[in-house]
Amino acid sequence: MSILCHLNRLVFPVFIVLLNSTFSFAGEGMWLPQLLKALNEKEMKSMGMKISAEDIYSVNKGSLKDAIVHFGGFCTSEVISSKGLLLTNHHCGFGQIQNHSTVENNLIKNGFWAKSFADELPNKGLTATFIDYIDDVTSKVLDGVGSELTAAARQSLIDKNIDKISKNYSLGKHQKVMIRSFFDGNNYYAFVTTTFLDVRLVGTPPESIGKFGADTDNWVWPRHTGDFSFFRIYADKNNQPAEYSKDNVPFTPKHFLPISMDGVEPGDFTMVFGFPGRTTQYLPEVAVDQILNSLNPARINIRETSLQIMDKYMRKDEKIKIQYAAKYASLANAYKKWIGENLGLKKSKALAKKEKYENTFTSRLEKNSPYTGLLNDVNRLYDSISGYALAREYYAEILQRNVDLTSYMFTLQRLVSAYENNGEAGFQKIFPGIKSGAEVFYKDVDLKIDIEKFGALLTLYVDRLPAGFVPELLRRESLGINKDESYHSMISDLYKQSSLTTYNEISEIFSKDPKTITDLIKKDPLYATIFEWSVFANKTFLTPYNSLKADIDLKQAMYTRAQLEKFPEKRFYPDANSTLRVTYGQVNGYSAQDAVNYHHVTYLDGVLEKYKPGDYEFDLPKKYIELYNKKEFDRYADKNGKLPVCFIASNHTTGGNSGSPGIDAHGNLIGINFDRVWEGTMSDINYDASICRNIMVDVRYILWVVDVFADAGHLVDEMKLVHPKGKKKKKKAA
Ligand code: ARG
Ligand code: GLU
Repeated sequence: MSILCHLNRLVFPVFIVLLNSTFSFAGEGMWLPQLLKALNEKEMKSMGMKISAEDIYSVNKGSLKDAIVHFGGFCTSEVISSKGLLLTNHHCGFGQIQNHSTVENNLIKNGFWAKSFADELPNKGLTATFIDYIDDVTSKVLDGVGSELTAAARQSLIDKNIDKISKNYSLGKHQKVMIRSFFDGNNYYAFVTTTFLDVRLVGTPPESIGKFGADTDNWVWPRHTGDFSFFRIYADKNNQPAEYSKDNVPFTPKHFLPISMDGVEPGDFTMVFGFPGRTTQYLPEVAVDQILNSLNPARINIRETSLQIMDKYMRKDEKIKIQYAAKYASLANAYKKWIGENLGLKKSKALAKKEKYENTFTSRLEKNSPYTGLLNDVNRLYDSISGYALAREYYAEILQRNVDLTSYMFTLQRLVSAYENNGEAGFQKIFPGIKSGAEVFYKDVDLKIDIEKFGALLTLYVDRLPAGFVPELLRRESLGINKDESYHSMISDLYKQSSLTTYNEISEIFSKDPKTITDLIKKDPLYATIFEWSVFANKTFLTPYNSLKADIDLKQAMYTRAQLEKFPEKRFYPDANSTLRVTYGQVNGYSAQDAVNYHHVTYLDGVLEKYKPGDYEFDLPKKYIELYNKKEFDRYADKNGKLPVCFIASNHTTGGNSGSPGIDAHGNLIGINFDRVWEGTMSDINYDASICRNIMVDVRYILWVVDVFADAGHLVDEMKLVHPKGKKKKKKAA
């Protein structure tokens, strides 16, 4: 079925109408690349784009999409040379950079530049995924799915259909297909992908550049972070995906992005092409209220406790700083985002806006509309779920995200249940992966930190949640822990009694046979405690949560469909779901608050203004300062002789868009996306074009660091530098 005929069926002609209205300032929207021609091309051209929708996404010829790579499944990266060179953020490659670091050879601190292919560092488990093509499979997925079905029956039929469609897809040897839901289950698209398995680290600046400003500057403009790193895709001799082998060779891509040396000016067209993770733009007010007033405050509180404990030790001990670097950064990142999100939701009066919108919605319903009563049902369901949702948040934050050993107990639980349900065969299926992952896991755990975190967070759990959500075995009265006393010493004892807290102990256990391994794990006191807690949690709040959530999802599907129908004047685009999207806008500053206006670009001068010798966030390498003092900017300076560092634009991005290319009107790379501005972090829930901006590193800063600071000009030689604005500068002096 053609896209347009499909859209018609789902009452999408709204899009087409919008093409004719004039938007002087677009920005909102994460669009599907295969629909750009029908929905966006005209507007994009009116904003200054010089290429066509077909140049961005084509099934028949090489197009921009063939240079866009899902990096490890959590970030975006792009191919920028004919030899498979990948550019992504420093914070996206940080886990790998940390993995190759030791106190003696600290890549985080000193940076790293491979001098030749042979020096590039392999990364076990790191993948690079291309999207080969995208198909609309809505009618097949929804085949037989009638409105009379319950949430569970509906989902199970959909899952069955998806399974069937996936199995019947005609795929190449290295291809996979994944089918995803859009508009909360109203549309389905299939993505046929090819994943490369040998991705090597090529170069990274020291963290003083790659993470300059660290957590103080994170989510904030003006920004001066050189948040980039280089990797390379390797393939077998037929240019096909292969596991790491020293015989693999650099991959030859279908397309790679040329690099614009001409920079940006306010008003310039830009787009960002990548894999945004998750947004929730079409929620009812009651859901936003719950995020704002219940869930975010709980998450913020838990993370603050956990981060303070890690920070205390990381500042004192170089080894701990390396061990906890990536974990800390990722926990701190979401923590700060939730704070910004809550401020922004309040400032943009998101609840009042939603309320007004819902009133309009209700007033537009005709007599006997199938949507009458829908919002009442939704409100009722959210009221019922709120207590369970809060308990679930505490439980998951503490046991699965903040405390390392408790999260590892869930890995062991998978092993135990594999043995108990499927015997030795089931056990052996997952054991090798778990066994080889153990070393990596324990390498980065410091027991005193884990104990302190668990003790403090368990205290929060017990004190903040209603008693009914605390399992008997952890109640203060069961353990004889006084009202104001912390759980620290209880956890400390528990870790002492456990034989699962160090790599030596676990590898001793893992050397036994499956039955003995299972028995030893099951009778371990730490494992037993977490297991009992998880059984209790399932019964008292996770199961009721999941069942209410399924009902909510069904109502949300209906509410989203209803919004599409009842607001023909509104621009609708599907929420982010880690699939390939294009967002486009213009380079522009913004007005943050009364009397505060931000420029669109920062310069190297600003890095030096922030420089604090010896500070762990704002220190700089000596050579960097010398180059600045001598103004050695080579061909990378702006026309005013200054070196640009970061710039902002109105592209609508979210987590997962990190590392995504900022692309100019001609399809050239101008920067890489890595963040959003503080005032606009609420854009996942309530986008506001006047203050939402994405932050990108200017590609000329990247090249300057590589070429002039790091003497790794051989990488720049691999790239294709272009002058789309025609302002050719003098060639680099020999
Ligand atoms: N805020 C950016 C993103 O969401 C950058 C995060 C990395 N930086 C950091 N200081 N943790 O990923
Ligand atoms: N830094 C984010 C990431 O890791 C991108 C910024 C955002 O959330 O917009 O994907």
